[in-house]
Amino acid sequence: MPGQYRFSPDALPGEAEEISKSGVPAILLFGLPDHKDEAGSGSYDEHGIVQESVRELKRAVPKLTIITDVCLCAYTNHGHCGIVRDGYVATDETLELLARIALSHAAAGADIVAPSAMMDHQVRAIRGALDAAGFAGTPIMSYAAKYASAFYGPFREAADSTPQFGDRKSYQMDPSNIREALREIALDIGEGADIVMVKPALAYLDVIAQARRRFDLPLAAYSVSGEYAMVKAAAERGWLDERRAVLEMLTAIARAGADLIITYFAKEIASSLKEEEE
Ligand code: PBG
Ligand code: ZN
Repeated sequence: MPGQYRFSPDALPGEAEEISKSGVPAILLFGLPDHKDEAGSGSYDEHGIVQESVRELKRAVPKLTIITDVCLCAYTNHGHCGIVRDGYVATDETLELLARIALSHAAAGADIVAPSAMMDHQVRAIRGALDAAGFAGTPIMSYAAKYASAFYGPFREAADSTPQFGDRKSYQMDPSNIREALREIALDIGEGADIVMVKPALAYLDVIAQARRRFDLPLAAYSVSGEYAMVKAAAERGWLDERRAVLEMLTAIARAGADLIITYFAKEIASSLKEEEE
């Protein structure tokens, strides 16, 4: 992904400082461990890549909101978002681990945890674990409506998290279905989600719009790696005016009803908007 880089924990504060100065209020952290295994054990390690990074970031740039991705796919050697037994995701084991990951992030100082595994009852499991450990004030941003999408391709390449067998259709949603999305969002709200998310964004503006109309919680939309890559690739060839295209895309996502937009263009576009103001 042009313009996107992996950072080590010691290099992060400098980048975070720049991001914060550009006017972006929050970042979403994904970890890439040096060791992957069957059990995804790097994910909840107190000294894991994300946990160490959160500590560094909260020390260096306290006003930047730190949101952490809570999932297993970057930590398992098979690349699935849960623990796999006999070819299927083992739900109870997976929920226990997701809760453990979220707790380790909160303990390191994460401002918000964001479970993305799309496992049934992950919000309930995480809320319970956080509350029991004294983190009742740590909000959950739930990837409530997450579709099985081709637009995740560039991210999987970057995070080395492509499933080694099968696909994610047993836990991610069917792109043709909108009622299921609304049902999933309602379930997550019932389990204690504080912010709900629709992902991807551009091909799912109708889902964002309906969710906005139906629910009162803050609504996030995640403009994913493939959405970024399409614009970058076309702009590189001189086929699109990148800045105008990005602003139009983000405006459309906001118009559809998103209160928060997660985008790989954040730093670039925020800097450029700031320059324009000055
Ligand atoms: C899975 C996860 C995905 C992304 C981040 N975490 C989806 C997937 O690989 O199924 C994709 C994000 C992007 O494309 O920007 N927990
Ligand atoms: Zn995952």
